[in-house]
Amino acid sequence: MILSGKARLAGVLGCPVGHSLSPRLHGYWLERHRIDGAYVPLEARPEDFPEALRALAALGFRGVNLTIPHKETALGLCDSLDPAARRIGAVNTLVFADGRIEGRNTDGFGFIENLRQGAPDWQAGAGPAVVLGAGGAARALVVALLDAGAPEVRLCNRTAARAEALATDFGGPVTSIAWRDRAAALAGAGLLVNTTSLGMTGQEPLDIALDDLPPAALVTDIVYAPLETALLRRARAAGHGAVDGLGMLLHQARPGFEAWFGVAPEVTAELRAFVLAQD
Ligand code: ATR
Repeated sequence: MILSGKARLAGVLGCPVGHSLSPRLHGYWLERHRIDGAYVPLEARPEDFPEALRALAALGFRGVNLTIPHKETALGLCDSLDPAARRIGAVNTLVFADGRIEGRNTDGFGFIENLRQGAPDWQAGAGPAVVLGAGGAARALVVALLDAGAPEVRLCNRTAARAEALATDFGGPVTSIAWRDRAAALAGAGLLVNTTSLGMTGQEPLDIALDDLPPAALVTDIVYAPLETALLRRARAAGHGAVDGLGMLLHQARPGFEAWFGVAPEVTAELRAFVLAQD
């Protein structure tokens, strides 16, 4: 796309940012919709982050996505936060408008939209969700699952204190279960989600027996490299529905694109193939 002087600008701000798939993803939508705009990778060290944000806003950027390590720091730099960002305690999408910085978190939206697209029959209210892990990603998913109507969220983390802290924060239907009891936690569940780094290329495999998981339960992984993790393969082999993690990344990008460029984009099979075909 050849840009005009009126081109709309956005990007992804992180450190490092070279691994990000977001420029390719937004670039695809910009081309597809023939938009006079650009979405660029932007690297800023933590100590330069507040200044970088102010500079981007002053330069007329419409907004940015944030990635590691800026998602939490940004909370204190926004003029307003959406309820998801406030509850999750992290921001992944910034919208600059009228001299103000609006912070949003669309990770939970992306997670739920991915399940809706990949498993249209799945209902959050159908049964307890088991979430493996208690990092930043788990936090976003717990909020999304509660908002979507999950009756119970069972958090299983190697370091029990992190899961307990999350359970204390969210209360009621969120409970912490010891890591060694993860297989038994699957009894009666409607959903199993892996938010740990286990199963990712170069990491240890995720070791969990699926025997106690009810046949109707859905399994999903936020790991998307490899796309078909051993967990998803084993789940499919046992007859469960399974949804890979790439879609969460694609769907979380939709609200930002719409806010910055004025078009609601779609997640299609062609987009998935395009994003995966990098290098
Ligand atoms: P993110 O913010 O992306 O979720 P994170 O905070 O680094 O990333 O969380 C990674 C998750 O993977 C954590 O739940 C971590 O467990 P701990 O809280 O005990 O560190 C989990 N994880 C990483 N390696 C693991 C391993 N070998 N066994 C079990 N869990 C592991």
